[in-house]
Amino acid sequence: MPAGYNFLQSLVRTYKQVKNPIGTMEESMEKFDGTYTVDLGTRRLIATQDPGFIDYVLRTNHKNYHKSPIQTEELGRFLGKGLLTVNGDYWLKQRRLIQPGFHLDKIHALYAIIKKTVDDFLASLPTGRIDVYPYMHKLAFEIVINSLFNIKVPQETRDQLSDFINEVQAFVIKDLRQPYKSWWFKLSGEVEKNLQRSGNARVIIRDIINTRKQSGQKFNDLLDMLLDARYEDTGEPMHEDQVIDEILIVLIAGHETTANALSWTLYLLANHKTEMTKLKAATQGLTVNEATTNDALAAVIKESMRLYPPAWISDRMALTDDAYNGFTYPKGIVIILFYYGLHRDARYWPEPDSFIPERFAKENDDKRKPKAFYPFGGGPRLCIGNNFAMAEMAIFLQTMIHSFEIDPTEIHPKPNPLVTLRPDRVMLEIKKA
Ligand code: HEM
Repeated sequence: MPAGYNFLQSLVRTYKQVKNPIGTMEESMEKFDGTYTVDLGTRRLIATQDPGFIDYVLRTNHKNYHKSPIQTEELGRFLGKGLLTVNGDYWLKQRRLIQPGFHLDKIHALYAIIKKTVDDFLASLPTGRIDVYPYMHKLAFEIVINSLFNIKVPQETRDQLSDFINEVQAFVIKDLRQPYKSWWFKLSGEVEKNLQRSGNARVIIRDIINTRKQSGQKFNDLLDMLLDARYEDTGEPMHEDQVIDEILIVLIAGHETTANALSWTLYLLANHKTEMTKLKAATQGLTVNEATTNDALAAVIKESMRLYPPAWISDRMALTDDAYNGFTYPKGIVIILFYYGLHRDARYWPEPDSFIPERFAKENDDKRKPKAFYPFGGGPRLCIGNNFAMAEMAIFLQTMIHSFEIDPTEIHPKPNPLVTLRPDRVMLEIKKA
């Protein structure tokens, strides 16, 4: 096992970590040179920000690793069994089925929906001194729901689905942070209430699916893609409950991650005027398609996700005893992948805390250290929506910076590392351009 903390030290660390997850992990990474063990008696964990180790777990030896029960069973209780919350053969079967629907040529068909959603959203964006975070949350939700269902979904239904996601997510976080209260959440009926919410969301989605099937029409959206997909071996489509599971997963996976990335990006650009000016000059008058392939936009978004990776951490559980770089560890151990730490590690990123989009310029491709950047994870479980996410963020950013002046305020956001890396608030001055 790698060096690390004994049982008593681990208990103290865990307490500290609940209060300050990122700071505590950074301190430990510094002390143990990027990989350390936590010993909680029956549960032992390894935490790492070593790019070689992360690559080994996610890619080279991925067959020996599953996501931990927290990511699968806990989340799956409310969201069902979709790509994000399953492991093993079933995951592979679903991934093979759904992956073609997220290829670049398929995502293309959604650009017009995304652009219209962005334009409608910006038409009602308030100006003045505002916290942009809740607005980015709303926008990311509108984009994902319109891309799933390219029809007029009534506002009441949208609100119900949005409330469901927010409430279930808030509950999962509470449950994860206070596992010792699990018995109380059950007894007080909170678990039941959230299961009921999940049931209601499923009824809403089932109705939309049935209406679609009865209409016999095509809408070129993600729902069509899910309904038309056929398993290679049987030629059969998904069962209706499987379609609902995958829709719930897309709603949850594609929503807050994007909202976080966009909020941090606006904050960084507002506070780095030279970068904002350069970006405006490089993106003047671009069409939607051009925006999605524009290097300057991609570089800014990537640099923002390097500093504030929305998925700041992930985990994997070893299925058999394994070894990496001279140390061994037993089956069942959970390995915490600390992407935030790696993204700010000075061994791989010069001036790690500075916002320097040029690092991601094409001409600097050779200068960057490999395997040190994981905004969308890596290996076979790489984010299936990564092309979609990059395209929607580019389309939004291009439109936003040419429609509005965005200025900083004296209030700076604090990262709030829950399931994703949310900013507590992003206060900016917004003026029509
Ligand atoms: C900036 C936005 C996004 C970020 C940073 C992000 C990040 C990630 C990461 C890190 C993973 C891998 C998790 C792990 O290996 O433990 C993941 C998986 C996933 N993401 Fe994203 N994501 C984003 C947007 C989206 C969007 C827009 C969609 C769908 C439209 C989506 C759908 C998924 C799905 C279904 C998975 C599970 C894939 C699998 O396990 O096979 N994501 N995402």
